[in-house]
Amino acid sequence: MTEAKSAGTATLTVDGKTVELPVLAGTDGPNVIDVRRLYAETGMFTYDPSYTSTASCDSELTYIDGEVGILRHGGYSIEDLAEKSSFLEVCYLLLHKELPNKADLEDFQDTITNHTMIHEQLRNLYSGFRRDAHPMAVMIGVVGAMSAFYHDSTDINDPQQRLIACHRLIAKMPTIAAWAYKYSVGQPFMYPRNDMSYAGNFLRMTFGVPAEEYELSPAIEKAMDRIFILHADHEQNASTSTVRLASSSGANPFACIAAGIATLWGPAHGGANQAVLEMLDQIGDKKNIPEFLERAKDKDDPFRLMGFGHRVYKNYDPRAGVLKQSADEVLEELGARNDPLLELAMELEKIALEDEYFAERKLFPNVDFYSGIILKAIGFPTEMFTVLFALARTVGWIAQWKEMIEDPAQRIGRPRQLFLGQTEREYVPVDKR
Ligand code: SDX
Repeated sequence: MTEAKSAGTATLTVDGKTVELPVLAGTDGPNVIDVRRLYAETGMFTYDPSYTSTASCDSELTYIDGEVGILRHGGYSIEDLAEKSSFLEVCYLLLHKELPNKADLEDFQDTITNHTMIHEQLRNLYSGFRRDAHPMAVMIGVVGAMSAFYHDSTDINDPQQRLIACHRLIAKMPTIAAWAYKYSVGQPFMYPRNDMSYAGNFLRMTFGVPAEEYELSPAIEKAMDRIFILHADHEQNASTSTVRLASSSGANPFACIAAGIATLWGPAHGGANQAVLEMLDQIGDKKNIPEFLERAKDKDDPFRLMGFGHRVYKNYDPRAGVLKQSADEVLEELGARNDPLLELAMELEKIALEDEYFAERKLFPNVDFYSGIILKAIGFPTEMFTVLFALARTVGWIAQWKEMIEDPAQRIGRPRQLFLGQTEREYVPVDKR
């Protein structure tokens, strides 16, 4: 890991005591005040319940500038990677922090291709779920259960086993996700094929049937691969932070990724793509947009404009821009150019961005606003949208896991608190209460 540079000190005076805290500079983005000695020197904690001003770790993987709307992996812009790279090449970049040469890319693709099948006993796990189980519940169950199967890649102190765990998770997620869909619709599971691309294999396992050859559309295959790239990693978001905290205890990688999937499911995070489609269905027609915008502003109304706003981006999420362009291309390919949902979403975006409430709070469309429209056009049910997010984000989670485990300075994460409960008091026997 690159060493942080000293950028002077911060002076803190509290309770008549003055402490000098080191200020550290990274290669890009805000400097940090190193508060690791604060408690020892002042007897006080910092207080930042939802981590709005807290850097939880060092990382070289992904850089975001929310003010400008920049997202880079290993220094490469998301726009460049979405246009010129492939999802497996981005996976290699996140695992190794460098783009592969031709030979390494081919080796990596072969490795992933040859790990796409899952243990047949894992297949039996699906039948324990109800057919109408939310597929994210199935994903948590099946991925967590991988801990019980792949014992030769759970020793986190063995670099080779760590790499195999990364390869297995990246390779098997499309199979696990596609089978969650097949199970929900009562169709037979389709096995992966070694002569197809990562995205093509996933589309065939999801929409193909044994009764006929699956007709793969190259344009949809490319759009699927691009959607995976756009969801691959995103710095220290809620689900990635969960994976890092779970991993800091030494838990095996499969259990940690299952924890990440669980966190991503929430509608404030990865579950927003499903919530956007449900919101658009609820709005129904352009004439209802003003009423829903008023509801979104009403503090007493739980309604939020799903797919809008972001903790970091106070500008347009660069991924939303690429997805909006992709939506046009996919709908064109599917002959659904004038999809009323896309029309409604674009009108909603236009009116919201002109509205003072959204403008002054810098609420812009995020990655989830357009992704659902494309996924619905391709044929995925809304319950599968967050599953696709988890499929793509697995490489980000596991790359962040690998980076943390390989950092010699890492220790178990253990936040403290501001205690507001009862101070000491005598126990009162029940017959005296
Ligand atoms: C993802 O962190 C990541 O990187 C996540 C992600 C990734 O790739 O991993 O980018 C993926 O999770 C994208 C976000 C998807 N979620 C949604 O689209 C759900 C809708 N968005 C909001 O719930 C909200 O914007 C969050 C959760 C995304 C961000 O919440 P914050 O940072 O805590 O912002 P906030 O709630 O403090 O909002 C600030 C103000 C508040 O108003 P005031 O109290 O200042 O008057 O903006 C308002 C909020 O009420 N606001 C919204 C709003 N989002 C924020 N008002 C209406 N609709 C919204 N969507």
